[in-house]
Amino acid sequence: MSNDLIIKDLRATINDKEAGEREILRGLNLTVRQGTIHAIMGPNGSGKSTLAHIIAGHPNYEVTGGEIWYKDQNILELEADERSKLGLFLAFQYPVAVPGVTVANFLRAAVNAHRAEAGRDPKETAIPVAEFRKLLRSGMKQLEMDDSFARR
Ligand SMILES: Nc1ncnc2c1ncn2[C@@H]1O[C@H](COP(=O)(O)OP(=O)(O)OP(=O)(O)O)[C@@H](O)[C@H]1O
Ligand SMILES: [Mg+2]
Repeated sequence: MSNDLIIKDLRATINDKEAGEREILRGLNLTVRQGTIHAIMGPNGSGKSTLAHIIAGHPNYEVTGGEIWYKDQNILELEADERSKLGLFLAFQYPVAVPGVTVANFLRAAVNAHRAEAGRDPKETAIPVAEFRKLLRSGMKQLEMDDSFARR
């Protein structure tokens, strides 16, 4: 199985209220090898966010050509939640504060959604709270985050 992200000749349009249908990506090719970090740079409006949204499966964009391969699947055929379960998703740059929802609980719900299996009781597959706290702390340590974030 290939864990590289391979984008081949990607073309995409967005429906603009004033200008109508506009082609933003015109034949983009990019390979991101497993374990590497890539920074995509370019002028404002050149399509960086558009690319990120399309990889994640945002419904406002229409892919008119090309393929995106990840783990031996053309992920353009998958729904956004299916892509996220494979490991492709957008992280929040500015997370929205929802009163009563802690970041920790939000993340635990996401972990449990990924652990859920068809035909099984979600309670059986849910991560035990203590195990989740450990996972959270180790991730935070890796990102050098302040301990107080876990309580927000
Ligand atoms: N929701 C939208 N409706 C209409 N046009 C859009 C929409 N989103 C993006 N565009 C257009 O698509 C083009 C690419 O925009 P995009 O936001 O992907 O660029 P970017 O490279 O992320 O820019 P920035 O550096 O400003 O973040 C721009 O011309 C922009 O005006
Ligand atoms: Mg952008």
